[in-house]
Amino acid sequence: MSKTVSGFSKLNKLEKIDWLVSTYFNNDNKVKQILMQYWNSNPVLQDLHDDFIENTISNFYLPFGIAPNFIINGKHYTIPMAIEESSVVAAASLVAKFWSTRGGFKAEVISTSKIGQIHFMYEGAKADLENYFVSKKASLLEATADITKNMRQRGGGILDIELHDKTFELDNYYQLHVTFETVDSMGANFINSCLEAIAIAFEKEGIQIVMSILSNYVPDCLVRAEVICKVEDLYAENSELFAQKFVQAVQIANAEPHRAVTHNKGVMNGIDAVVIATGNDFRAIEAGVHAYAAKSGRYKSLTNASIENGIFKFWIEIPLAVGTVGGLTSLHPLSKLSLKLLGNPTAKELMEIIAVAGLAQNFAALRALTTTGIQKGHMKMHLTNIIKQLGASEEEKEYLINYFENTTITHNAVVEAYNKLVGDK
Ligand code: MEV
Repeated sequence: MSKTVSGFSKLNKLEKIDWLVSTYFNNDNKVKQILMQYWNSNPVLQDLHDDFIENTISNFYLPFGIAPNFIINGKHYTIPMAIEESSVVAAASLVAKFWSTRGGFKAEVISTSKIGQIHFMYEGAKADLENYFVSKKASLLEATADITKNMRQRGGGILDIELHDKTFELDNYYQLHVTFETVDSMGANFINSCLEAIAIAFEKEGIQIVMSILSNYVPDCLVRAEVICKVEDLYAENSELFAQKFVQAVQIANAEPHRAVTHNKGVMNGIDAVVIATGNDFRAIEAGVHAYAAKSGRYKSLTNASIENGIFKFWIEIPLAVGTVGGLTSLHPLSKLSLKLLGNPTAKELMEIIAVAGLAQNFAALRALTTTGIQKGHMKMHLTNIIKQLGASEEEKEYLINYFENTTITHNAVVEAYNKLVGDK
């Protein structure tokens, strides 16, 4: 049977599902049931989700959790997190509580500008191009006046347009490098609309515009978050050794890209979860953050740690282009609720909160890795998932959790213990 289909987007949702089930699932009605059981019973809400993308046939749920007890710049926060990985919210909550009794997190936004580029080819004399650019610059800004009007009223807009010669990288390649301030919006649409208008105004014979697009590399949209305490307040047992191994773990991530990638993956566990919960674009954040981690030419840790004069300091500095208005932030009811829970923050405040979530997650990972190892915590969460899959009753669950308190958890071991328990009854 041919799997090629035309006019697919014009079919209604049920027709799309029918096509899918007959083409790929041998008309298995269970597939239809699985897809439809995730439809929201509220048609307005379902319509909203249907319209986010093309060809929606169902919803894909992610757990939405909250991590309370964060203190950031002296203010209490409960942080919303959307993530499937079992230990992330638990780790965030534990670390939030831990630092809440040690002064909390400090965070500050260092810079907020974003970048868009018009990439073009030009074969003529560079001086002529420079003269043309200088003569055009004011009218390029003028070309965006309508688009930037509201943004300018909110304190944003285009900060500058520069002509960059990139011919040393690629023959005839130049760009207009445009910097933006987009205040509380992530600004992707705004930036791209401005760029396209500028490109039209700039184009002339001899200048071949290739494309106009924002950059997700935003090293000047930077936030820093940190925690500080006396080494002796850091860990119950051997605090000095703990602090030393913790700092070494960060140094290892700086020295070894294989470790750095996993180290930063742990940071992104916290960051992505808040980015998703608040309706921001996690792919943009991921791309920008990892590029920043490699800015020295080698992929390195996003976090840093030091011990000086008996003081332990742990910090992160990352680029985060996020918004608290526009896009999904105001469309998705859970994103709206997340932002409300955070006190309807400005984009700058949200940058601080997200950086803290990343730092907290990395603290949890390094604390576990340099002491007990992570499997203990992970397997505990895994245990509850396996128990659930087995369909154990509350009583059986309690028995199994007690049993595995001092026994190594593996999938097989849990299944065996459960079978024995059920068999013994
Ligand atoms: C797992 O999702 C994240 C960790 O691997 C991070 C790390 O190793 O630092 C625990």
